[in-house]
Parts: sequence; structure tokens; C-alpha cells
Amino acid sequence: MPRKNPAHEHFEKRLPQKLFTQNYPGLILKNEIQGIELVGEDDEHFYVKSGAGENWHEFVVYTLKQGWAGLENLSLIPGNVGASPMQNIGAYGVEVKDRFHSLDAYEIANGKIKTFDAAACAFGYRESVFKRGAKDKFIILNVTFKLFKKPQLNTSYGAITDELKALGVTDPGIEDVSRAVINIRNSKLPNPAELGNAGSFFKNPVIPQAEFEKIKSAHPDIPNYPAGEGHVKLAAGWLIEQAGHKGKRTGNCGMHAKQALVLVNYGGATGEEVYALSTAVKKDVFEKFGVELEREVNIV
Ligand code: EPU
Repeated sequence: MPRKNPAHEHFEKRLPQKLFTQNYPGLILKNEIQGIELVGEDDEHFYVKSGAGENWHEFVVYTLKQGWAGLENLSLIPGNVGASPMQNIGAYGVEVKDRFHSLDAYEIANGKIKTFDAAACAFGYRESVFKRGAKDKFIILNVTFKLFKKPQLNTSYGAITDELKALGVTDPGIEDVSRAVINIRNSKLPNPAELGNAGSFFKNPVIPQAEFEKIKSAHPDIPNYPAGEGHVKLAAGWLIEQAGHKGKRTGNCGMHAKQALVLVNYGGATGEEVYALSTAVKKDVFEKFGVELEREVNIV
């Protein structure tokens, strides 16, 4: 049954993946639901269910150790399992939506548990229904992944091939790919245990082809990727670097020296400071390129 008290009312509006810019007077719950279970299999797949509070990377490592393939490219992403579908986390050519089967979520308004399949999650680039129509209405309890019996390695991302070569691996398995991804991430992304950060702070912007052509004529080196239907995806890290924010510290926070897309907290930065820096970065990128950056996180 739904609880009716003021703290609950506040909680309805607050779920993870938030940047708090002010003191919050309500109740905040941290989801610690644990447990990993093989819940089914067919000829090609293992179906693996994980509690939403499991640490993502520990979950990935566990699946790889069992020989359950598919999450190797998503190694070392900070956060918990429950946040992975909300954000449709992705790296090195793989997104959670590609390995997702279903999830169970608690509906705050009526206390019922609802199951979402991939279609119901309406996944997009760093997007899902939980950031749109179902925003703030559900608490994700567990997620079931559809993993492979026979590995389907995705090493098309250039840096993975190079790293496997550097490791002397000629016939890679899932744990080798995971090792390569871990090495690449460690080389440019700061460890949250040492330097506060939440990975990329902005999404890579997707813009119409015509707009892209104009920017490209002034900046021929601009990295770009086809994004379907006359659209082009730009690298926000490159835009931020060109706008002069790479490695620049503003008070207690700044954009990382090795990856300008990652906003880092050097210690003691308040939510307000983080928000102000992100606003300054957005403004400078817009002034230079006419491109609007969108934050990955929700702001409270
Ligand atoms: N670049 C720069 N300067 C920088 C950073 C990047 O010029 O400071 C250029 C790179 O040289 C490259 C391009 O931008 O040409 C793309 O950079 P990179 O390959 O590092 O990836 P990204 O687009 O910055 C995305 C994801 C990451 C994911 C990597 C690898 C987003 C918002 N970010 O970053 O995901 O790990 O690709 O697949 O899509 C996250 O979302 O938190 C995250 C870390």
C-alpha cells in the first residue's frame, strides 16, 4: 500500500541520478537491493536477474567469471545495476538496451510492482521512459539481462583493438575485452574513489546534417558520427575542449584534464557550484558553435 506522509510526497519527486543544488528537506532512500540469480536459459542465452542495488562493475565481473557473455564492453562504469536501464548506459559500441530483457519496478502511486520489457522502457541514447513519461513514478527493484552462451565480441571500437594488441592478446575472450576496456577507461577517466565524478556530464549532441555542414566548414577537424535520418552526433568532449574548459579548474570543480566531458569535484564542491560550472560550459560551447549541450543528470 502507498504510504501517505509528507516525506513520501517529497520522495515521489526524487529518484537517483540527480544533482542536488540545495539542501533537501525530504526523505532520501538508497536502494541496496542485492542478489544475482540465473533465472532461465535457452539455446543461446542465459537470463540473469540482479537486485537494483548491486554495484554495476562487480555485477559485470561476476557474469564474466560465470562465462555469461555480453557485458564485457560495459566494464568499470560507476553506479548500480538499477540505474543502468534508466540511463541506458553505454560504452565502446554496446548499450544496456542490447543486453536487456526486463525489469521490475515499484509504482509509487499505488504500491504495485510492474514489469517492463525493452519496448516499455523506450530506450534511446542515454534515455528511457524513466527519464520521460515514467519519470519519478517508479523505483527499479531488479533488472534481468539476456546474456550470451556464445560470446559475440564487439571490438570494433578502435581503442579496444589497439589495447588488445598492446596486451599481446590475439584470440580474445570476454575477460580479455573487459581488461582492455578497464585499461582504456583507467587511462582517461578519473576513478570516482579518488576524484569525484559521475562519468560524462553531458550527452553527445545530435544535430541536423545541414547545421553540421555549417560548423564543419569553420572547423574541418570536428569529430562526428552518423546518427541516422539526416542527423550527426558530435563529441561533446571535443566541443568543451575547443571552448577552453579542458583541464580548467573553477573553484572546487572543473572539466577533467584527460577527458573534457567529465566534470570532476576536487573536494567540497557544492551542487550549486557544479551546476554553475555546467551552465558556464553550456554557454561557452553555445557561443562558439551554436550547439546546445544537454546534461545527463537531472537537476533538483
Ligand atoms: N575528445 C576530445 N577532447 C576530449 C574528449 C574527447 O577531443 O577532452 C574527442 C576524442 O578525441 C574523440 C571524441 O571526442 O574523437 C570522442 O571521445 P571518446 O571516444 O572518449 O568518447 P566520448 O564520446 O567522449 C562516450 C560516452 C562514454 C563512453 C565512451 C566510449 C557519452 C556522453 N559518453 O564518450 O560514456 O565511455 O563514449 O564509448 O556518450 C558516460 O556516459 O558516462 C560515459 C563515460
